[in-house]
Formats: sequence, C-alpha cells, structure tokens
Amino acid sequence: MEKLNEIEKLTDLDAIELNGKSSRYPGFYKHDLSIRLDLLEQWYPLTTNEKWMLKRETLTPELADIMVENAIGVFGMPLGVAVNIKLNTRDYIIPMAVEESSVIAALSNSARLIRDHGNLTSKATDPIMFSQVQLVNVKDPEKAKTKILRKKKDLLRVANQQDPVLVKLGGGAKDIEVRILDSPGGPMVIVHIIVDCRDAMGANAVNTMAETLGPILADLVKGEVVCQIVSNLSDRRLVRVKMELEVACLARAGFTGDQAAERIIQAYYFADADPYRAATHNKGVMNGIDPILIATGNDWRACEAGVHSYAARSGQYKPVSKFYRDKSGKLIGEMEIPMSLGIVGGVTSIHPGVKILLKLMKVRTSMELAELCGAAGLLQNFSAIWTLATEGIQRGHMTLHARNVAVFAGAIGEMAIKVANQMAHEGRVRYDRAKQILKQFLIWEKQEQRKQNNGKKKNMTKSE
Ligand code: MEV
Repeated sequence: MEKLNEIEKLTDLDAIELNGKSSRYPGFYKHDLSIRLDLLEQWYPLTTNEKWMLKRETLTPELADIMVENAIGVFGMPLGVAVNIKLNTRDYIIPMAVEESSVIAALSNSARLIRDHGNLTSKATDPIMFSQVQLVNVKDPEKAKTKILRKKKDLLRVANQQDPVLVKLGGGAKDIEVRILDSPGGPMVIVHIIVDCRDAMGANAVNTMAETLGPILADLVKGEVVCQIVSNLSDRRLVRVKMELEVACLARAGFTGDQAAERIIQAYYFADADPYRAATHNKGVMNGIDPILIATGNDWRACEAGVHSYAARSGQYKPVSKFYRDKSGKLIGEMEIPMSLGIVGGVTSIHPGVKILLKLMKVRTSMELAELCGAAGLLQNFSAIWTLATEGIQRGHMTLHARNVAVFAGAIGEMAIKVANQMAHEGRVRYDRAKQILKQFLIWEKQEQRKQNNGKKKNMTKSE
C-alpha cells in the first residue's frame, strides 16, 4: 500500500479556523429529530423549506416518474447524519441513508474517538475511469494492437469531441491501452479508453466515447465490436485511507486497550486468511460507504462491484483494509479501494434531497467525496471489528434493533423506546416478547390513568 502523505495533525481550533465550523456535536443523538435539524443550522444554514424536505419528502412522485420507467411512487429510508468527523484538515458532517440501526451511531462514535485520540487521513487519486471496447474475429491481434496504438492521437481526438465540457474542465480521454485476451471463444482485442472524469462519476461519458470509437476500431482492425462499456473495476480511481489511534481508549468489556488492539489485529488476520470472513469484514467497510453513496445520489452498485473485484485482485478474495501497530504502539488501520463517484451529473443534478445533502457535506470535488467515503468505510470497519473482538456485536446491535422490533410489534413513539429498552435490559429482543411487554405497559398505563381519574373525582367530591 502506497504511503499516505502525512498530513499535519490539527487541533479542533485549527480545523474550525480552516473550515469555519466544527462537526463535533456532543450528545446529538439525544435530541428530537426536529431539534437535530435545527442544530445542523450551526453547521450549514438550512432553509425552513430544506428542513421540511429532509424531514418529509425530498423526491416527488413526478420526479420519480421521470427517473425510472413504470414508477408507482417514492420509497423512503431513514436519513441520518454522522457527526464528529475530522478528516485531513477539515471537519465534516456525513449524511447517510441506511436502514441498519447501528451504522450511523458507530461512525459518529469512532469519529469522536479518532478526533480525541488519533488522526485520520485520506487521499484520492485523480478521477480516472475507463471504458472497454471488445473486438472479436480479429485475424492478427498483435498487428491490430500496433495499428490501434499508432492511431492513438486521432482516436483520443474523436473521443474528446464527444465531451467538450469535460475537456474544458481539464478532464477528457487521456490514453488508450490495448490488451489481447485468450477466451473460450478464441483471442480477443480489448481496448481501454482512459478518461479523467473530474467531478462526474463518468460512466455516461466513457460509455459514449466507447460507443463512438467501437465501430472505428472495428473498421481499423477488420474485426467485430461486441461490448462497449465502462469497467467498474476502476482501479485507477482509488482512495487511500489511514487511521492512527492511541490504544488506551480501546479498553472495553474487561479488555485493556492493549489487549483490545491485539484482538482487533487478530480479527484482521482472520479476514486475511479466510475469504468467508473477508466477505463480512468488507461488508463492514461498505456499511460506512453505501449509505453515503445513496444519500449523494451515487451508483452504489458500481462502487460495490469495484471494491469487491479489487479485493479479489490477487486471485484470493481479501479484506480491503488492514490493521497493525506501529513502533510507538498505536493501532494503525489502512485501506485502499476504488471509489468511482461524482458530485455532478446524473441523479446528483436532479434529486432535490441530494442537492441539499451535498451542500450540507460541503464537499468541493468528487475526489473529496471519495476521501470522505473511504474514511467512513475504514472507521465503520474499525468500529465493527473492535466491537466483535471485545464485547461482541449483538449487545449494541440489539439495543438499536430492539426499537425496530418494538415498532413492528405495534409500539409507537415513547412507548417503542420503553419496550425496546426493556427487551435490551432482559437480553431478549424478540417479536413475541415485544408484544408481551407492550401489552403489560399498556395495562399498566391504563391502571395509572384510572387511579389518576379516581383521585381527581375524589378531590372534586371533597371540594363539593
Ligand atoms: C454487520 O452489518 C457488519 C459486521 O458483520 C461487519 C463485520 O463482521 O466485520 C458487524
């Protein structure tokens, strides 16, 4: 893994000075939803309308109808924000659209820990994507390769004519590469069109270029073009993240910080040795990334495909992050993954909620968003294996999951929280138990109400 540029450690005050605001929100989770929205105004001046939209509806059925065929409505998901994030030299608030209860809490919590006891840095490469043109029935593939490479300049010119705006912004097609592949159907010539996509995810741009160059290339090598499409293994658009943490703060569930750090490393070794575990380890990484991709209107399927194929690039599916201790004893986490996302074009330009959330994040480039997603992925992963390696995942998970179960059993508002807390306290988070507790609480509430009413009646007769 390439060494990260060491970025100077900054104090909270420095970060506030650079960024204007601190994302440190102690006890944010304790407030009501509306109060949280009001509190966010300190970070970013949301209008009343924007707050209303975030709370109620950001996508209208009319827009949904334009976005997909056969639309029948709009599908809601919980939207939250992870707070406390300090990455490189800046503070961030991260919006996350996610149904899994523990994800936002885990990110906010690990961000606070790193903020107070460590450091978090992340660096994205240039936003380079590429599309592939598949040429078959080529008589002499080696000759074809030479022919194509000789025409590189002309081909790049034609490709760039397809997207003058991108070229004007400093992006565009930059290179052409040719590979010859053996396949069950015989040799094939694969042409890669390498494109700097700047702030766009870029699939549309690179696909258009591929579809324009496809027939030209087929003609040039006297072959037949089959597929012309972006590669989601975007291994030139990478993000590298590093976290450093003093281990004393890792003490938990009877383990000292030192022991917890060693157990985190053991958990990583397990993932390194076993693809069955690596899949779950990497799922923990994506827990931190997918919700941001959804909230920012990005194609999370593309990123998932990229990350998992990158994880298998050695021939064995591996964890995308690694953990070790440095000479001073600190716990170090590092990760390198492809991250193909954008902040302009596609859904990002039309979805009203995405527009508000991108403003709230204050990210200025696609690279900065990639850095933030990478950091969220690593923190989420760290948080999961720290818990796994110490107190186990079910306790914390279940406390939050209990609320879903309580609601499913029919409890609402305050009652849902009471039922959930009781189940968590008992260590029995089950639908049938939620029903029983709900029934008991409701009977108890009725009895209390009756007592109060009787008391009032007695007082009234006394005063009469
Ligand atoms: C659950 O959504 C994610 C974890 O399974 C990740 C992991 O096992 O590392 C907790």
